[in-house]
Amino acid sequence: MLKGKKIVLGITGSIAAYKSCLIIRELIKSGAEVQVVITPAGKEFITPITLSALTHKPVVSGFFSQKDGTWNSHVDLGLWADAMVIAPCTAATLGKMANGVADNMLITTYLSMKAPVFIAPAMDLDMYKHPSTLKNIDTLRSFGNHIIEPGNGYLASGLEGKGRMEEPENIVRALDNFFSCSVELLSYTEDLKDKKILITAGPTYEKIDPVRFIGNYSSGKMGFALAEECYRRGAKVVLIAGPVNLTCSSGIHRIDVESCMEMFDAAVGEFTECDAAILCAAVADFRPEVVAERKIKRKGDDLLLKLKPTQDIAATIGGMKRDNQRIVAFALETNEEESNAQRKLEKKNADFIVLNSTRIPGTTFQADDNQITIINKEGKKSYAKKPKTEVAHDIIDELVAIL
Ligand code: CTP
Repeated sequence: MLKGKKIVLGITGSIAAYKSCLIIRELIKSGAEVQVVITPAGKEFITPITLSALTHKPVVSGFFSQKDGTWNSHVDLGLWADAMVIAPCTAATLGKMANGVADNMLITTYLSMKAPVFIAPAMDLDMYKHPSTLKNIDTLRSFGNHIIEPGNGYLASGLEGKGRMEEPENIVRALDNFFSCSVELLSYTEDLKDKKILITAGPTYEKIDPVRFIGNYSSGKMGFALAEECYRRGAKVVLIAGPVNLTCSSGIHRIDVESCMEMFDAAVGEFTECDAAILCAAVADFRPEVVAERKIKRKGDDLLLKLKPTQDIAATIGGMKRDNQRIVAFALETNEEESNAQRKLEKKNADFIVLNSTRIPGTTFQADDNQITIINKEGKKSYAKKPKTEVAHDIIDELVAIL
């Protein structure tokens, strides 16, 4: 799948820079063309001569060519590439990329890049664990970049030791997988054309006072992956999102809400016009009966909050469902998973339930992977643990079959 692909390889100042030679070798062996862009610090670890000998191309480093002073165009590189890979990527470069600090050729190239970007962080564990690094990685992920690290589920490498750069062959495999999937995606028929799909995603926050709320750990990743999948397959998508730190394609109609009540109003208002609803949000089941107008002060021993049930969005929509509409609900269970899911199928008047269990490590809340079982009146179908984007593909295949 890498044959003929044009790859910009960004190299930064890490001891792992020597491994970029192995990445180049693997890419070239697979038939890809490689253009190296290296930071000034990167050159302290590996020489441009070695890199240009391997790629058969001059290495780009400064804003101007050293030979004749001509301008190195980052814009052209951004248009030329089919993918950009930054490996190794130091904490400093992560920070600059997350914040648009365009002070070297690698960052300007990144900012001009039209193709997907893959980032393989490389640093010691203490630097990796620092909140600023983790925040930058999250920010870069929310921009749609692909983070490649040992054992993060993107590749089932089984390696531990975050911070250490993923092995070169796994980095190349991630790229290869990506292009294999993209070909599959391109060959999609637009099987949701002329359909309108409503999706709820993320958590809800139920206010206790002006500064506190009841919430949960939902990241919204599964719901957003479903929205993107429906959109790619030609649907009109209404995405009702609780408070999440994610972006989505501009063609998706996104409605941001905070509480269950706001999500309820938006969902009930939109559903009549839709062909299907996918209720993926982790809605709070209870909210404080009264919201304090002022910040609650610490006094006395205990603070008792009286909670009231919130509206059940899925059950309400289930009650509104016409014969030509479909509903997909989720069930997140800690125990007696299947019998609970069966019960929810009835309660929500859903066409099928997507069951997740908290018992499977590396899935559900915050994770990039999920392992689901789809349950309908006829029976159940279990799927392997895979990235949420691929899980979304499986769920939408099931929905298309009953629309
Ligand atoms: N749901 C909803 N509105 C709520 C609660 C849940 O729309 N107030 C939806 C969720 O989006 C999900 C499904 O209902 O699709 C099941 O959610 P879950 O929290 O697992 O179930 P509950 O209905 O809360 O049932 P229980 O408390 O028995 O687990």
